[in-house]
Amino acid sequence: MVHVVITGGSSGIGLAVARQYLERAARVSLIGRSQERLEAARARLISETGRSADDILIASLDVTDDAAVQAVLSAIEADVGPCDILVTAAGLVSPMPFDALTGAQFKRHVDTNLNGTVHVISAVYAGMKARRQGQIMIISSGAGLIGLHGYTAYCASKSALVGFAEALRVESRWHGIDVSICFPPDTDTPQLADELKLRPAEAVAMIGRAGLWSSEAVARRIVRALDRRQAEIFFTPTLYLLARFGGVAKPWIYRWFHRSWRR
Ligand SMILES: NC(=O)c1ccc[n+]([C@@H]2O[C@H](COP(=O)([O-])OP(=O)(O)OC[C@H]3O[C@@H](n4cnc5c(N)ncnc54)[C@H](OP(=O)(O)O)[C@@H]3O)[C@@H](O)[C@H]2O)c1
Repeated sequence: MVHVVITGGSSGIGLAVARQYLERAARVSLIGRSQERLEAARARLISETGRSADDILIASLDVTDDAAVQAVLSAIEADVGPCDILVTAAGLVSPMPFDALTGAQFKRHVDTNLNGTVHVISAVYAGMKARRQGQIMIISSGAGLIGLHGYTAYCASKSALVGFAEALRVESRWHGIDVSICFPPDTDTPQLADELKLRPAEAVAMIGRAGLWSSEAVARRIVRALDRRQAEIFFTPTLYLLARFGGVAKPWIYRWFHRSWRR
């Protein structure tokens, strides 16, 4: 049975990915900090998918704590079996102007979104390499592709994942490990509900009315991309164009934005 490890599996996109894999008879291990949220997520998945509690391992863990990540991931693999697919959805965002952001808040974004992802991948990577198989899906964000007003910490941490994923993919392909990255647009999750309360008007204007995705739709695309061993998922034509032609287009986009905002 395929074993899928999902950080941030107690809520939003991670929880929706877990549901999709349980519906395909995989076993899942869900990671998050709050034991209460993990238990609620497991109860919900059992009732929605009809799978048993034995198929859903939950582990309370803060991905920023490297030593704890290594210990917990190795305990999970000893218990459930090697990790075949890793989805790194644990993340946070708290928009605010750069000069209102404390050093600690900036660091928390980088520690969670970038370093937390690196810690979890490094915990399963050696095993995947030894088995010469494994799939890793890194969840970045549309904000990893363009600078947004009020998102210095989030954009820095999510765009750093792009460089990390690309470099790791260059290495990992020799070892039979696929590294993918995805760039979800606004997705209807508890994180987005909190984020929207703080999103500055400038960012609203820049993001525009791109529409809201459901976590199920994002999860379906993630699972399909993993099936196809696709390296990147952009979800919308705009994000695809931004990723492919951003180097040329972004100076014009920023210019247009500053002009129209001044008006
Ligand atoms: N929603 C969107 O519009 C959107 C768009 C683009 C990208 N994303 C990205 O997609 C990912 C999932 O977001 P979501 O919207 O589904 O958020 P969500 O519903 O708030 O879920 C976040 C999950 O991450 C866990 N988490 C947060 N910090 C953690 C830590 N330090 N250690 C372990 N687990 C941690 C949370 O559980 P605990 O709080 O209990 O730890 C929760 O399970 C994030 O990386 C987010 O940046 C979201």
